[in-house]
Amino acid sequence: MEQKWEQMKDGLQLCERCGLCRTRIQAVWGVGNPKSQVLLIGEAPGRMEDEQGEPFVGRSGQLLDKMLAVVDLDRRKNIYITNIVKCRPPENRDPAPEEVAACLDYLREQVRILSPKIIVCLGRVSATRLIDPEFRVTKEHGRWVEKDGVQMMGTFHPAALLRNPGSKPAALEDLLGLREKIRQLCPEVYEL
Ligand code: URA
Repeated sequence: MEQKWEQMKDGLQLCERCGLCRTRIQAVWGVGNPKSQVLLIGEAPGRMEDEQGEPFVGRSGQLLDKMLAVVDLDRRKNIYITNIVKCRPPENRDPAPEEVAACLDYLREQVRILSPKIIVCLGRVSATRLIDPEFRVTKEHGRWVEKDGVQMMGTFHPAALLRNPGSKPAALEDLLGLREKIRQLCPEVYEL
């Protein structure tokens, strides 16, 4: 891995680019196999993530892991997971636009170094920032678009699926589409 990756990862803990640095326990860089060409991007750490320093470790993370397992994807093996915003917004509120803007350089650098072929946006905050400001998850989930040579898709945030389990079959369909896309574009992900 590039030296730059480790430098940025370590430097993130000292970041004071926005006010979230005053309330966080720790910044959350990401988790997974940096060799993977599949990157999943959520919103921001919650309480458990802030405590443990890893994305998606709470209830929504457990659901995410279970659903990913259906299509043979595993954060310990063949994908990388991070968030748009690296520090927890207090009370689990949505990150403010200025917090997203302040944090975006970290994500840009992660994308540059990982150089993914496929990016999956988990939820509205991620999809509206990265795919289309007008993105509507309920209408446009599972649809693939190409941006700067990267295939991108937005799907339901696992926390939304916990609130609204009726959307789980649609979310699973999206993941089946993801598996197909991986087989087409970077089947080696399934060898990792
Ligand atoms: N929700 C997110 O969007 N990211 C996390 O890491 C945890 C919950």
